[in-house]
Amino acid sequence: MAIGLKTPQDIERMRIAGKLAAEVLDYIAPFVKAGVTTGELDRLCHEYMVSVQGTIPAPLGYCPPGYRPYPKAICTSVNNQVCHGIPGEKVLKKGDVVNLDITTIKDGYHGDTSRMFCVGEPSIAAKRLCDVTLECMWLGILQVKPGAHLGDIGHVIQQHAEKNGFSVVREFCGHGIGTKFHEEPQVLHYGKPGTLTELKAGMIFTIEPMINAGRREIRELADGWTIVTKDHSLSAQWEHTVLVTETGFEVLTVSPGMPAMPASLDNRQAA
Ligand code: MF3
Ligand code: CO
Ligand code: CO
Repeated sequence: MAIGLKTPQDIERMRIAGKLAAEVLDYIAPFVKAGVTTGELDRLCHEYMVSVQGTIPAPLGYCPPGYRPYPKAICTSVNNQVCHGIPGEKVLKKGDVVNLDITTIKDGYHGDTSRMFCVGEPSIAAKRLCDVTLECMWLGILQVKPGAHLGDIGHVIQQHAEKNGFSVVREFCGHGIGTKFHEEPQVLHYGKPGTLTELKAGMIFTIEPMINAGRREIRELADGWTIVTKDHSLSAQWEHTVLVTETGFEVLTVSPGMPAMPASLDNRQAA
């Protein structure tokens, strides 16, 4: 099936939705401290989205085929949780790493972004996993330009993760996004250069690698949503929503507090 190209009007609305999603992460960052519950982070984000931004939290009630409706406004995935962690009574403690994944809807358009947060001082291993995963996402983003292929994105992500002794989760991927939360194409975080769909200006999709410190296998918890690593190893994820432009890419989920592309990757941007 053909992948929809966004019109200039769509793109303008996606810039707005993307910026709002990123701004929720800026807002919540100071609250990610030892002693807070993931449920409290959800409550704060939900309130900010609805009352301050006038956005709709896309996860709330989201119900893909085979799932039960997602019960909360954001996803909070702690330590060995890979993705789709449901906020609740869990109290964050020093040394935890947590992914907060925010999807806002504004004027019918979606913005989807996530970041890793460290509670207190992270272990060297946890910090390295978060850093390498951020590099993986950015290496993927740097591939984005007309004429490149989706397989190019997956390939650089897989290479970088595995070179560092980590593994790439296969069961979940990035996705097209627009007036729907999850659209075509699927954006795999592993693969071979030159394979799969050729990128065209006007495509918008997310890049959101989930990288495990141990083995890549995962398990779903009985809540029907939370994904954890089978071997209990730590997992990290970062996510941006990205537009293919005539000359390369534009990250749509931008905000003042967003971590920059790691400087170590600078030379690759010019290439
Ligand atoms: N935000 C996730 C993604 O990046 C999807 C979460 S679905 C939910 O695609 F229902 F768990 F919110
Ligand atoms: Co996404
Ligand atoms: Co997301």
